[in-house]
Amino acid sequence: MEMLELIEPQVPDTTDRRVTDRRATDRLDFLPLNGTDYLELYVSNARQAAHYFQTAFGFQPLAYAGLETGLKDRESYVVVQDKIRLILTSPLHSHTEIGRHIDQHGDGVRVVALWVDDATDAFEQTTNRGAKPFMEPTRLEDDHGYVVRSGIHTYGDTVHVFVERSHYEGVFLPGFKAWSPHYKPNDVGLKYVDHMVGNVGWNEMNTWTKFYGEVMGFSQLVSFDDKDISTDYTALMSKVMSNGNGRIKFPINEPAEGKKKSQIEEYINFYEGAGIQHIAVATDNIIETVVTLRDRGVEFLRVPEAYYDDLKDRIGEIDEEIESLRPLGILVDRDEEGYLLQIFTKPVTPRPTLFFEIIQRKGAKSFGKGNFKALFEAIEREQELRGTL
Ligand code: FE2
Repeated sequence: MEMLELIEPQVPDTTDRRVTDRRATDRLDFLPLNGTDYLELYVSNARQAAHYFQTAFGFQPLAYAGLETGLKDRESYVVVQDKIRLILTSPLHSHTEIGRHIDQHGDGVRVVALWVDDATDAFEQTTNRGAKPFMEPTRLEDDHGYVVRSGIHTYGDTVHVFVERSHYEGVFLPGFKAWSPHYKPNDVGLKYVDHMVGNVGWNEMNTWTKFYGEVMGFSQLVSFDDKDISTDYTALMSKVMSNGNGRIKFPINEPAEGKKKSQIEEYINFYEGAGIQHIAVATDNIIETVVTLRDRGVEFLRVPEAYYDDLKDRIGEIDEEIESLRPLGILVDRDEEGYLLQIFTKPVTPRPTLFFEIIQRKGAKSFGKGNFKALFEAIEREQELRGTL
């Protein structure tokens, strides 16, 4: 299937990220985004999930909202590691929107919040271009200043919340209080969200790449078709959408026909709809990070040993010793601009849906296309164990 058709660009094609004239890009960008503000996961036990992300992933306690702050229906813990903030939220009684989300999807990402300078303008720009409103611009304030938030729907039950926080100096958001328990395990060197991948249903990829192009002013970086990403059994198609300054990158996957069930289809079946498949977080030292994560109980997908035998021939010289990557299962890929190291966790939820990617970029701006085949064969071995292949 031909997947190289381009979406109608709203802005001149800025596919080449080496364009460095920021002012020129910003002038054309009707939705300037400063970065990822936070990700909110709806989970069945926020208190224990926060403990897991502290213990296993090295997040630090930051803020809390719940009964003690006057909320009646939910409890939220905010954990942070460098620029990455996660909110873990659970309902406090039955028949809530959060509970309904958990019932349908299991634990998963509800909100991908984006940091903006003007949340009212972000709402207007996107809803005028056809976005379905989720939250009208709403001002929240406390003694530390104010924050304006607004939001729109994206694929499945996932939403984008725009957060304007330049007039706020509190710990997180109005309504949250500082959470500073005795238990603070060390971080593991995670720095920022590199990209977040969405899985959508059959024939829906172009609908959503068009949405990010037309409604949010993103442009398409790359696409992969089922010839790039297929094994003997499963296939998928993928397009990567990026905002103007490249800080927000959303690859979108859809299943493709294979001999057996695609991993994307498995996700859609278990998540019962479209949603976030993985959150890629960056580190400056993937070997140290992965050693620590593994010691703390995070489980990773493994590729066969043979992957490393001809690695040097495939990717050329790299700074790291291949013999230190092999026992950890860290993968390497190269593009025209450099190389990257990456590894994927097993799902962190009971359903085989959400997982994390740990990535270290050494010049490369791509997403590890050269590893797809080895990786997907590893996923298929897991699917086989789950009886879902
Ligand atoms: Fe990724």
